Amino acid sequence: MAPPSVDSVATFSFETCSKAGRTLIIGATGFIGGFIVDACLASGRPTYILSRSKSTKVGAHKELQDKGAIVLYGKINDRHTMENILKDHKIEMVISAVGGDTLLEQIDLVHAIKAVGSVQRFLPSEFGHDVDRADPVEPGLTMYNEKRKVRRVIEEVGIPYTYICCNSIAAWPYYDNTHPSEVLPPMDQFLIYGDGSVKAYFVDGKDIGKFTMKALDDIRTINKSVHFRPPSNCLSINDMATLWEKKIKKTLPRKTITEEDLLEAANENRIPESIVAAFTHDIFIKGCQINFPIDGIKDLEATSLYPETPFRTLDDCFDDFLTKTVNKKNADERTKIVDKPLEVTSKHSSGAAEHMEVISRHNTGAAEQIIESKTDYLHLILSSTDSTPYLGYLGS
Ligand SMILES: NC(=O)c1ccc[n+]([C@@H]2O[C@H](COP(=O)([O-])OP(=O)(O)OC[C@H]3O[C@@H](n4cnc5c(N)ncnc54)[C@H](OP(=O)(O)O)[C@@H]3O)[C@@H](O)[C@H]2O)c1
Repeated sequence: MAPPSVDSVATFSFETCSKAGRTLIIGATGFIGGFIVDACLASGRPTYILSRSKSTKVGAHKELQDKGAIVLYGKINDRHTMENILKDHKIEMVISAVGGDTLLEQIDLVHAIKAVGSVQRFLPSEFGHDVDRADPVEPGLTMYNEKRKVRRVIEEVGIPYTYICCNSIAAWPYYDNTHPSEVLPPMDQFLIYGDGSVKAYFVDGKDIGKFTMKALDDIRTINKSVHFRPPSNCLSINDMATLWEKKIKKTLPRKTITEEDLLEAANENRIPESIVAAFTHDIFIKGCQINFPIDGIKDLEATSLYPETPFRTLDDCFDDFLTKTVNKKNADERTKIVDKPLEVTSKHSSGAAEHMEVISRHNTGAAEQIIESKTDYLHLILSSTDSTPYLGYLGS
């Protein structure tokens, strides 16, 4: 099925862009929130992040602080604290990227934003499909019902909002994996959903952050949904398999995962895997990302809003995965090649014979290995002329 045409919208200009304001990000330590906070910091605006706890994710908070973020402590379902935070720090923009288990807690946040009255834009935790249109089976439906509920409260209380419908993140869409860009595309076989021909949009995580920030500042997107539909990234899973095969320069077997298989995986009700199976069914069997047009009125499209800014192509994203795959392969080859301890007698650089108990050996190159003994790590240079390996001291 071909993607629907997109109505053109007015071109972005400074007149359509509000002044970048003090922005609070909730869920900055999460998967999607990470891309958003990076883009927010890169945009140079005052960036605040909300953390639920002083004791967890200390390292992640420190890293964001070092990049310029200001860490605040509180929970979004604590309305009183949230009102104080919004007032005390004169927050103008709020972006929520909370995960699927705390979506309804955003309702208290919406009421806090309404009570304070000074927030110019709220982006609730969406970052996927248009939940008013998509209709996944359970348990995906429950999550969408929660997102829908948050939308209705936002609209009822009347705070300015934008819904970001960024579609799928650019990565191999494993049907049981919530954070696909953290895992590599397959090297053994492809699982093809249905006949593999239904298209979907795949957006690089960094672009999810970048275009979210653009939409946040854009007065044209107030009270609208912004859909990310870069034509270069509209592919079927068959197309993706072919693209990956070109990158790895070999063909892989394909195994069909039928509609029934996906429904069965959804029906198992394992959380979160079954939610992902339900969405996979909605995307690759029912075509939920491409089965409706963008009207340009209530729904806007990112490449039409910002034609001057290209999206990274899936081709480029797959190059990144190829690099990671090669690096991983090298790392795997460096891992343990001797599982059980064995004794070796070797000649040290001093010429002295050394008897050592080897714990593990790691390949580092064609003629080199790292030997881990009980006391030291030793640099082993294999010699084809000398049956006794030469050992150079590397450090303990
Ligand atoms: N398009 C896609 O491919 C895609 C993929 C994944 C997710 N998504 C969507 O993106 C959104 C975010 O999901 P995610 O998977 O990125 O979430 P995640 O990794 O689970 O992270 C959730 C974040 O929210 C924070 N949080 C949760 N409840 C909170 C509360 N009450 N107060 C303050 N902070 C709170 C967590 O903080 P702690 O550090 O305290 O835990 C964490 O930083 C969801 O709407 C999800 O549906 C889209």
